[in-house]
Amino acid sequence: MEKFKLYNGDCRSYLKEIPDNSIDLIITDPPYFIDGMGDEWNDCDLTKKVKKAGVIGGLPVGMKFDKEQGIRLQEFMQPICKEYYRILKPGAFCIVFSQARLYHRIAVVLDDIGFEMRDMLGWKYEGQAKAFSQDHFIKKRKDFSEIEKAKIIKELQGWKTPQLKPQIEPMTLAQKPKEGTFVDNWLNYGVGLMNTNESINGMFPGNIIEISKKERNEDEDFKIEHLTVKPVKLIEHLIKLFTKEGQVVLDSFAGSGSHGVAALRSNRKFIGIEIEKKYYDICLKRLNRIEEKSSNLIKLNSYEYNQQMALFSN
Ligand SMILES: C[S@@+](CC[C@H](N)C(=O)[O-])C[C@H]1O[C@@H](n2cnc3c(N)ncnc32)[C@H](O)[C@@H]1O
Repeated sequence: MEKFKLYNGDCRSYLKEIPDNSIDLIITDPPYFIDGMGDEWNDCDLTKKVKKAGVIGGLPVGMKFDKEQGIRLQEFMQPICKEYYRILKPGAFCIVFSQARLYHRIAVVLDDIGFEMRDMLGWKYEGQAKAFSQDHFIKKRKDFSEIEKAKIIKELQGWKTPQLKPQIEPMTLAQKPKEGTFVDNWLNYGVGLMNTNESINGMFPGNIIEISKKERNEDEDFKIEHLTVKPVKLIEHLIKLFTKEGQVVLDSFAGSGSHGVAALRSNRKFIGIEIEKKYYDICLKRLNRIEEKSSNLIKLNSYEYNQQMALFSN
């Protein structure tokens, strides 16, 4: 049986092909509809927008406050999360990355579909201050005299756009309702509990997980060309908390494949879907390298074996 399956295409089609109650964990990082991006993901547009010195439509990235952005994200994620619910085993977890301004949209979608919202997790990193001073805009005003401009600039010294230094990326921890007790569900499906032997810092696992952004590309001997690569160490920790060896992890927005690398490195199986061919290629390269290195055989129970045969046999 293969250890991973990777598809190049739109997850809105591929998810429909996955059997009911067959996935042990979804951990995914959807596009955030960064200012000006629609649901038709276009990598070239995005790269151009972000490269323009961090400015979109004359405003710093993140300050073009478009209320439609969250609504569009919610509409985009609704049918996708419905598929997540269908394909996850009873009691299995669904972890979806988001950002502070949009987290609630994803949480409401999952909650309304029937998931139990267990927690909000946070990836804590160094962060970089982004708040802008208003001096530039004041200087450009034609309705103020130079004296007035100097006076306002002085008054606003230290006052900036309302952007606290972002240091946390939130994630939903949603659970498909279990069947019966935790023990019944575990015996039938092997999911629903959390492995407290897994720890990233020697302490009881917490809902804030601190990992430096610098750890993103560890163990890689080539530069990963993707704007939003997640640290493998973070994903590996989450996978080990919520699944056993041999189980199946799915990421429908695979990007450069960090979630897949984490899954294979921790002896889980992986299903990934990525729409952009160039990221699909990077992901495939990373996964093939890991698979070459590992050869562990894992014993499955008969339910798990049958489900995995349906997912991984050609
Ligand atoms: C935020 S990135 C994921 C990055 C990933 N976590 C990593 O570590 O590399 C989101 C990815 O979703 C992909 N994407 C966007 N819309 C998609 C769709 N409808 N189906 C599949 N992939 C999609 C984008 O090309 C992008 O690579």
